[in-house]
Amino acid sequence: MTDLFNEKKVKGLSILRASTSSVSGEDISRELNVSRAAVWKYIEALRKDGYKIEGISNQGYLLKGSPDELLSTEIRPRLPDAYKGEIYFHEELESTNDEARRLAQEGAPSGTLVIAKSQKGGRGRRGRAWQSPVGGIWFSVILRPDIPLLLAPRVSVFTAVIVAESISLATGLKTAIKWPNDIFTNDKKICGILIELSAELDRVGHMVIGIGINANISGAELTDDVKGIATTLMDEMGKKIDRKALVASIATRYFLELEKVFTDKYQEYLESWRKNSLILGRVVSIEESGKETIGEALDIEENGALIVRLSDGRKKVFHSGDVSLKLRDS
Ligand code: BTN
Repeated sequence: MTDLFNEKKVKGLSILRASTSSVSGEDISRELNVSRAAVWKYIEALRKDGYKIEGISNQGYLLKGSPDELLSTEIRPRLPDAYKGEIYFHEELESTNDEARRLAQEGAPSGTLVIAKSQKGGRGRRGRAWQSPVGGIWFSVILRPDIPLLLAPRVSVFTAVIVAESISLATGLKTAIKWPNDIFTNDKKICGILIELSAELDRVGHMVIGIGINANISGAELTDDVKGIATTLMDEMGKKIDRKALVASIATRYFLELEKVFTDKYQEYLESWRKNSLILGRVVSIEESGKETIGEALDIEENGALIVRLSDGRKKVFHSGDVSLKLRDS
């Protein structure tokens, strides 16, 4: 499909959206400056995308329903008009992070979103696989902050905060952040974040933020290794959630707030992270490079590192690792 075809198709959709009654093919063709035959092709293409468009003889076309898919035509209208960045939707990808990295290397602008209905090779932190069946929210955002490498961890803190808040806002569920940036609800994981970046020694080139939310899937679909430790928004809510609003809310916050993360305003995000932390003040086990450490999670540093108090009172700082909660007497 050419860019022009796509552009006209999207315009055709917005004409239909703007009207509560049917719009004649003639009016659409005039507004788009194309033939009636071309209008019919756009309508057919939209129907293929899942839009329910009724053709009423002698009257025209009426939009009766939109697909429950994270299509660019569904996400774009929910973003601020000035939002920059393309939105790519794929039926299936190996990994949205891989595709986003490829696009970033080709020069895709900051704000570009890569969304997949399902992933065959979804990746988690530390080389783990990430199950990504249909119904979840699997997407990556390309960011190009002009910052020294030293400030990159702020994006991880910020991302955890805005994703947790967006999920709470969309569902009413209470969310908590497990260091470094897992999102939990009711003590189970509902979202994982994988941040990858390309940088020179001292400066960030681009960042790819991969966000995976167990949204409209049933916990029964999760494999045994994560059952018990993970849950889904649909299971917690007892109903499907509005995935489009959630993606749009996260993307909008990157667009409106990313710059603030590199100013004093960062302290507020850090504070929100602390306030919503699942682990601060609790005894945790941290597994790093095959070594387990147990201690009380005290705080996170500005650079996102975790400070832990060991049983002998010494403090240890972790820059990476896997955290799990320990019961006090275990
Ligand atoms: C983790 O908790 O280990 C991070 C999981 C990140 C999963 C998301 S889904 C979208 C993006 N594409 C991937 O391959 N991974 C991230």
